[in-house]
Amino acid sequence: MKTATLLTAGATLLLSALAVKYPNRPIFTEDREDIPSICAHPLVGITPTLLLAKDIFHQYLFDLFEKVNVMTLTGIGLGMPRSIMTIDPRNVDYILKDNFENYVKGAMLNDAAGDLLGHGIFNANGEAWKYQRKTAASIFNTKKISDQFTTVFLTQLQHMNYHIFDTAADNGQPLDFHDTMLRFTLNYFMEIGFGVELNALSSGNNLPFIRSFDICQANVFQRFANPAFQWTETLSAWFMPWKTTIAQHLDIIDDFAYGVIEDRQRGLNHGEERNDLLSKFMETTNEHGQKLSKEELRDVVLNFVIAGRDTTAQTISWMVYSLLTNPLVQSKLMAEIKAHITDELYENPVTIFYETLRLYPGVPANQKYALNDDIWPDGTVIKKNDYVLWSAYGQGRSRKIWGSDAKDFKPERWFTAEGDLRRESPGKWPAFNAGRKAKLATLEALVAVVTLLRKYELTLVPNQEITYRVSTTLPMKNGMNVYVKTRT
Ligand code: HEM
Repeated sequence: MKTATLLTAGATLLLSALAVKYPNRPIFTEDREDIPSICAHPLVGITPTLLLAKDIFHQYLFDLFEKVNVMTLTGIGLGMPRSIMTIDPRNVDYILKDNFENYVKGAMLNDAAGDLLGHGIFNANGEAWKYQRKTAASIFNTKKISDQFTTVFLTQLQHMNYHIFDTAADNGQPLDFHDTMLRFTLNYFMEIGFGVELNALSSGNNLPFIRSFDICQANVFQRFANPAFQWTETLSAWFMPWKTTIAQHLDIIDDFAYGVIEDRQRGLNHGEERNDLLSKFMETTNEHGQKLSKEELRDVVLNFVIAGRDTTAQTISWMVYSLLTNPLVQSKLMAEIKAHITDELYENPVTIFYETLRLYPGVPANQKYALNDDIWPDGTVIKKNDYVLWSAYGQGRSRKIWGSDAKDFKPERWFTAEGDLRRESPGKWPAFNAGRKAKLATLEALVAVVTLLRKYELTLVPNQEITYRVSTTLPMKNGMNVYVKTRT
């Protein structure tokens, strides 16, 4: 009994001494007094904070930047590497352009997302990344193929209007706009990228692949806050056997991706000719000069589904949401659409697109790993092995960056005093990181929104909560229900 009491007292003393020595971080980790810290606790650092904020991470981080009144913060949690988080445009420009080579996708991303993304473009560095960028660019820069993209896009858009929006207008039932857009961009992207007709828009077509895909993507983000995720996922499988596990979701995703590749292989064996993303990747060689394996092709399919489907569908949804909640901006746009009845795109809609991405960036938080020691333009010292994170969500809402009206939806801010379209640096507006792929995405989103609004009057169903779900992109957590009326 006496020994037990002594042991308990000794352990308490030791823990107290350690808590004094490590008041804001796990034991044996370095203090970084030079950088303000996010809310941290003795011996466990920021882990409890991250776990508490995991469902509102982007807003939480932004509020903290405002509260502490700084643009760069740091924190370290149990079993996690140190992370330095910034919304300072100078730092973000520096990471994205000036010292791009020093910041790579690190082991943390690979651990959290490796089973979903494999060695695909979002999880690749160096030569593996370059050959994928080059292959993808070769397709997007070919006129014949981009014309083909436009044709498929417009056909699918008409199909969606006819089958979904006209029906909703006729029956007066609310429509989940966000879900419809996700199905639309999936349909379209699967057809142009991989030659697959999914019929994702057909009512009642619940695609298990897509459900599993969404769950795994959101889970990637949750894994960042939980370094013990392998344990917790295993325990959850044991204690909740009725729940589909992440491993089972991954099997569903893999079956789908391998099915796409096998179908294509069969087609090619029968002399079929194709000219799309999948065929380009089947012809190309990887960083070792070898043809891509089935596993590498699976990674291509899944990474490009994320790239082509999610961000575009979400941006269209946030754009329509912003218009529905800012009636003056919507009326101005409608006047412009009426005045210019052709399908040409004008600068006004482009400013609405940019403004949407300022407040609702498709990739709201982005993380990289420092290969070497560095000093950022704001003076922050970065040490080799640090992780750095920039919050596009926080940057877009920061009054220090965008002025006192930062939180208002004001597309006119994108015009210069001379009436030209304003160009912002990627550091200030990292919607596309260093500006890649913007053309196709801009075109798709604008054509979809203008076509829909020209034909339909949309109204938000009252009493719904429209907010984001924390994930690698910025989906709407509960969707967005609208009533549809055909314009006369
Ligand atoms: C509004 C729509 C879009 C937004 C906001 C957007 C935004 C972004 C951002 C921020 C990244 C960098 C992500 C990272 O490094 O982790 C990215 C990467 C990428 N996006 Fe988009 N994107 C959009 C649409 C598209 C479309 C339609 C495609 C066509 C396939 C596409 C293809 C890609 C590819 C291939 C990458 C990886 C590039 C790389 O690592 O170099 N994106 N996108």
